[in-house]
Amino acid sequence: MKSNPKILIVFYSRTGTTKKAVWAILNSLTSFIKSKKINVDIEEIIDTKDRSGAIGYLFAGKDATLKSLTRIKKSRYNSAKYDLIIIGTPVWAFTMSTPIRTYILQNKAKLNPSAKAAFFCTQGGSGSERTFREMEKVCGKKPVALLELTTKEVMQNLSEKKVRGFVERILM
Ligand SMILES: Cc1cc2nc3c(=O)[nH]c(=O)nc-3n(C[C@H](O)[C@H](O)[C@H](O)COP(=O)(O)O)c2cc1C
Repeated sequence: MKSNPKILIVFYSRTGTTKKAVWAILNSLTSFIKSKKINVDIEEIIDTKDRSGAIGYLFAGKDATLKSLTRIKKSRYNSAKYDLIIIGTPVWAFTMSTPIRTYILQNKAKLNPSAKAAFFCTQGGSGSERTFREMEKVCGKKPVALLELTTKEVMQNLSEKKVRGFVERILM
């Protein structure tokens, strides 16, 4: 990774797990921030569709399975300006969440051709491999690092070692 890299962390979180994982990643990155003069911005994707409760869950599963798109709120940051984009999603029906699929499709043409990508996901138990394969396909970039965390690992603060390995691979 070049010196002074500009990093964008993009994530969607329906119930807070993936958001918590972002803080773990940021925490781990912090120890490198001074030495490598890293700039990090964080973009939380907001879906305009109400995905709360049981009905929200059911439609989320259906949308993910059908690879549907949604309407997301306008981004704060210009994805074209970054050397590395880290994209995080909860696993929905063994693939990426609909808001993240939408973000990637809307932004992939804008990304700097030399920008690197890294992906992470949180999941109940399975589906990360397929999720990462799909993210790579939709994004058109081979990720430099991958991180899958279970909901339990995130919520019980058991993710530190895995997160550190992910951050080290990114900054290599
Ligand atoms: C619609 C839907 C489908 C899901 N499908 C899967 C799945 O296929 N495999 C899995 O391990 N977890 C699945 N989960 C669980 C979530 O991936 C997991 O709870 C995740 O950590 C939630 O992240 P969030 O709190 O950031 O939304 C699903 C959750 C939802 C809402």
